[in-house]
Amino acid sequence: MTGETMTGKVVVITGGTAGIGRVTARELARRGAAVVVVGRDRDRGGQTVAELNALGGTGCGAFVQADLSVMAEVRRVAETVTGAWPVVDVLINNAGGMFGRRILTPEGIEATFALNHLSYFLLTDRLLPALRQAPAARIVNVASHAHFGVRLDFDDLQSARRFGGYRAYKRSKLCNLYFTYELARRLEGRGITVNALHPGFVATDIGLRNRWVPRSLWRLFTLFAIDVDKGAETPIHLACSPEVVSVSGRYFFEKRPVRSSAVSYDQAAAQRLWEISADLTEIEA
Ligand SMILES: NC(=O)c1ccc[n+]([C@@H]2O[C@H](COP(=O)([O-])OP(=O)(O)OC[C@H]3O[C@@H](n4cnc5c(N)ncnc54)[C@H](OP(=O)(O)O)[C@@H]3O)[C@@H](O)[C@H]2O)c1
Repeated sequence: MTGETMTGKVVVITGGTAGIGRVTARELARRGAAVVVVGRDRDRGGQTVAELNALGGTGCGAFVQADLSVMAEVRRVAETVTGAWPVVDVLINNAGGMFGRRILTPEGIEATFALNHLSYFLLTDRLLPALRQAPAARIVNVASHAHFGVRLDFDDLQSARRFGGYRAYKRSKLCNLYFTYELARRLEGRGITVNALHPGFVATDIGLRNRWVPRSLWRLFTLFAIDVDKGAETPIHLACSPEVVSVSGRYFFEKRPVRSSAVSYDQAAAQRLWEISADLTEIEA
């Protein structure tokens, strides 16, 4: 793994209390960063912070509790973060989930779309002022090769007519790419990079957390998965390696830029998704 120092840097990571995010948080704190971890579960948050603070050196952790599928909570997270850390060097949008049935958030938004896409979109927008204060800020969006093979249905972005858990997940990961590419165009020349990545198929509990599939089936699937340390290598690389300091608008796998699906490069679709997302999250497009 890359061993760059992160001393003096502030990293915000969503879903940093388990899976790929937890290892990423730990490794960035080990390199000296102050890591702000966002997650739902207070116990897991407390344990994560204790783990980060026990590493020694200059690295440390803090926890902000929130359900990121709720946009009011995303706004609250951003306010808490910018109140305490006016300069943010790295934002890692990582929290994601798979849902076995169509669930609406308290704000009436389909949960996969809300958590996996809109939370990335809104948190980034709200943290941009703090990212602008950093000398060379980075935004890292954890996407997935699951985006291959789908396109968005703009007449049914929230799967109201027909819901399939895996299809909704795949589409949300395509949204991550549209968002990354459109944001990179908008941030060009402004000293903030944004990249997306596929971590590999990683043995985490993502398939269990919202009862996407039965436990026995998920355990069987993940027999073929890589471990979380390996899965965290690309997000860590994008967050701290000098090799990518000025690289923006790319999709990475195994620490190298790769092509995402042909559909994901459709600029008109990215722009359209941006406008709809801005509308839903009540920000200026
Ligand atoms: N695992 C894979 O094979 C794989 C492959 C490709 C891409 N990815 C992507 O990698 C990212 C991380 O996945 P993972 O496999 O590490 O998942 P995971 O082990 O299930 O961890 C998910 C993290 O997100 C948090 N989270 C989930 N729902 C949340 C919510 N509503 N509000 C706030 N935090 C929430 C969880 O914290 P709480 O438990 O506290 O809610 C946890 O910290 C996701 O974006 C996923 O799409 C994973």
